[in-house]
Amino acid sequence: MTLLAIETSCDETSAAVVRDGKILSNTVSSQVKLHVEYGGVVPELAAREHLKNLLPVTRAALHEAGISPQELDAVAATQGPGLGIALMVGFKAAQAVAFALNKPFLGVNHHEAHLYSPWIAGTPPVADFSQFQPNVSLIVSGGHTMLVIVESELKHRVLGGTIDDAAGECFDKTGKMMGLPYPAGPIIDKLAAEGNPRAHYFPRPMLNDRNDDFSFSGLKTSVRYFIRDHPELLNDRQKVCDLCASVQEAIVEVLEAKTFRAAARLGIRCITVSGGVSCNQKLRQRFEQAAQLEKITLRLADKSLCTDNAAMIGILAERKLLANVPLPSLDEEIQPGWVLA
Ligand code: KG4
Ligand code: ZN
Repeated sequence: MTLLAIETSCDETSAAVVRDGKILSNTVSSQVKLHVEYGGVVPELAAREHLKNLLPVTRAALHEAGISPQELDAVAATQGPGLGIALMVGFKAAQAVAFALNKPFLGVNHHEAHLYSPWIAGTPPVADFSQFQPNVSLIVSGGHTMLVIVESELKHRVLGGTIDDAAGECFDKTGKMMGLPYPAGPIIDKLAAEGNPRAHYFPRPMLNDRNDDFSFSGLKTSVRYFIRDHPELLNDRQKVCDLCASVQEAIVEVLEAKTFRAAARLGIRCITVSGGVSCNQKLRQRFEQAAQLEKITLRLADKSLCTDNAAMIGILAERKLLANVPLPSLDEEIQPGWVLA
């Protein structure tokens, strides 16, 4: 089966062609630079940029895959969750393509797609996900932090999530307090590599709570007070590196401890991680060390698929179509608030 998939839920315009569980192309146009001066994603600007980029990105994906539209067997797009006017651009365009070609169309949940992204481009890519199930999956991005148990293919249950800020938001907002541009996560990652993670102690919210929920707003506030009381630190590069390393340490320690604890409690021997924050070097290192120690199979999303992309949408849609899920009508609408259950 050859599918065209489109993803426009936030600030990445992406189109991919997948076939039989393989990625033939995955074109991503990131808008990060556009939103830098506003310190976050501006929905109206994001939607306009998607409108401008969607056709060239889709053309490029088809060209790279060597596929003409007539060769497509189905079309898929992110239906939610995400920014309403951003989602609308990709979802409606994908429905129009399906209508014109008279092919099946499927809208998928963006987070459900993240659950499978660790399998599709890792080493080796995995055609049969079932061999690694059940697993506990951490989705950690700028908008979401959640733990999910994937019981078997296409069957999952959310264990917990953040009750306030997402981990990526905590990286971005504490970075902003340090004067770093948006998105600060990747910059903190780099600076932290030169810093001392034990220079300052910040709280590890909900670390010892007996549930699978997260909270990062208290940590953010604690960093705010720390910077208010020690503003001179920001003039010294080494001290900024130490601060970055200390904040990163607190975030990563909570993510690691709670993910591995959930797996141990459920007796599950496989953990996967996806979402923008899973690019973080320290996170990858800590999860790898813990997995080795506890003899757990760990699958981190390939860096090219950590952030938002259409390949994961296409792969999930193909699985669903092969599993004969009922096809929705082409009149379906986006679901910006679609919560993974
Ligand atoms: O998944 P994503 O591209 O978009 C959504 O939020 O859905 O994730 C973006 C988030 C941002 O908060 C960004 O700062 C964070 O992922 N991020 C990182 C790193 N790379 C991206 N955070 C920490 N370390 C990184 N290397
Ligand atoms: Zn995402």
